[in-house]
Amino acid sequence: MKTASKRRIVVTTALIYANGDLHLGHLVETIQADIWARFQRMRGHECWTISGSDAHGTPIMLSAEKAGIKPEDLIQQKEKEHEADFKAFDIHFDSFCTTHSADNSALTEAIYAKLNAKNDIETRTIAQAYDTVKEMFLPDRYIKGECPRCHTKDQYGDSCEHCGATYSPLEMINPISTVSQTKPMEKCSEHYFFKLTKYESILKNWLDKTPLQPEIKNKLQEWFEGGLKDWDISRDAPYFGFEIPGKKDKYFYVWLDAPIGYIANLGDLAKHNLAVTVEDFFSKDASDKTELYHFIGKDIMYFHVLFWPAILVSAGYRLPTNVYVHGFLTINGEKMSKSRGTFISAKSYLAHLDPAYLRYYFFAKLSNNVADIDLNWVDFQQRVNADLVGKVVNIASRCTGFIHKYANGRLAPCLPEQDLYQLFARSNSEIAQFFEEREFSQAARAIMHLADLANQYIDSKKPWSLAKESGQEALIQAICTQGLNLFRVLMIYLKPVLPAMATAVETFLQINPLVWEDCNKPLLSHSIAPFTPLMQRIQNEDINPLISQQGDHHS
Ligand code: 2FM
Ligand code: ZN
Repeated sequence: MKTASKRRIVVTTALIYANGDLHLGHLVETIQADIWARFQRMRGHECWTISGSDAHGTPIMLSAEKAGIKPEDLIQQKEKEHEADFKAFDIHFDSFCTTHSADNSALTEAIYAKLNAKNDIETRTIAQAYDTVKEMFLPDRYIKGECPRCHTKDQYGDSCEHCGATYSPLEMINPISTVSQTKPMEKCSEHYFFKLTKYESILKNWLDKTPLQPEIKNKLQEWFEGGLKDWDISRDAPYFGFEIPGKKDKYFYVWLDAPIGYIANLGDLAKHNLAVTVEDFFSKDASDKTELYHFIGKDIMYFHVLFWPAILVSAGYRLPTNVYVHGFLTINGEKMSKSRGTFISAKSYLAHLDPAYLRYYFFAKLSNNVADIDLNWVDFQQRVNADLVGKVVNIASRCTGFIHKYANGRLAPCLPEQDLYQLFARSNSEIAQFFEEREFSQAARAIMHLADLANQYIDSKKPWSLAKESGQEALIQAICTQGLNLFRVLMIYLKPVLPAMATAVETFLQINPLVWEDCNKPLLSHSIAPFTPLMQRIQNEDINPLISQQGDHHS
């Protein structure tokens, strides 16, 4: 196996807004990143995972108000819930902090000071929609009205779902504030703009050098051709966020301090872990030594491939190694949507199903493009039952009993089919490449192909028939040692996907935590523990509540 030198990697996933439940859509990204990071660690690399809670902005302020609590209390409660949900799904973060922290506040102020020192902030007075009843400026999403181009009613204040037009809410016909149900008026105030346009050539150069996904490159080209606009990084009071130093009633826009949270949260990790410093991963020359990847959904590309890289450069930091963008999740072909009720929270999933099923299902569906992925419950049940229970676990459950019955729980000293084992071991480089490139569905296919071969081997040797004859103990032991070794290699490849099952297998095989290169050496002359069920089949009654939960929303 090619042993690359040890890489130093930071992976981030989008910080979670601290006013809603974690849902299956969030889990596409965090499961993808968690699998990738676990794979890197199993290969002997250093890989830190950073996420957290995105605490600021108007929606959070309004959610807290609606719940009759302080935003500080809401965000604290949500942060705890999200962290617990991630843990339940075996999604590991080395750092998970809120953006509403003293560290993030100090860092945001420091970065803002650097942008100012670079003369990258410009003050402009702009007119915006203002709710006179609520006495607040309205984000576009809180205004609805008629599209000025095609006259479709009930469209949001920034764009028309029907004709695709984008506009300012002030251009809409009959706009209404969804906060107070009154007509917004136009009001002027002073705002602070980051001069994004100054960074166009640096961004273009980054785009040329970085192997961004082709869809992202195309989108960026489109934006460049359409002309970049400077970015408004300020919001007026009332707002839940960080106040801009020296300005009265002005706050940093949540999208400024949120990605800064990536750095602040790495800083928090560095406080507790001597192996890492923020400079290692974010200083200007860090790109030569360390890798930084942002895993995000396609809806927040604009922030991560335009604003954020430009802010990083302006403030004297490195650029990301890459930004890995995924598509949306549909469930049974429908978009998950709170307003339509087609929404499944992490908690309601956990009430019915093993998290390992979802980790494997997303693994089997994901690839490295931005296409949406569909969770079809029938397919989910069939795929998990057929692949994991029917193919993988089946190998171990067929062989282990015989090892105990005929060989005292001890594996044979050598393998009867070296070539078959070598085929499994050699596949590691192709499978590793699929993992590295986030071609997870191809990795799943390759692993399941091997699982089929292992089952065919056992089927052809029929240890259960040999058991009916006398004097076949050594042969049964050899066949089942072969089977369990093939199973062990499969578990090495599946460990990034199924960490809890891998731990159970390590206990049952009585071995140290598996690492990738363990695939090269079979486990021989070794005592194993009795078999414990590793995974249950998904029964209709497990899955029906989730299907009907979704169905209910249509009635
Ligand atoms: O879109 C979102 O869900 C944001 N909370 C993501 C923030 S990512 C980062 F920039 F903090
Ligand atoms: Zn329209």
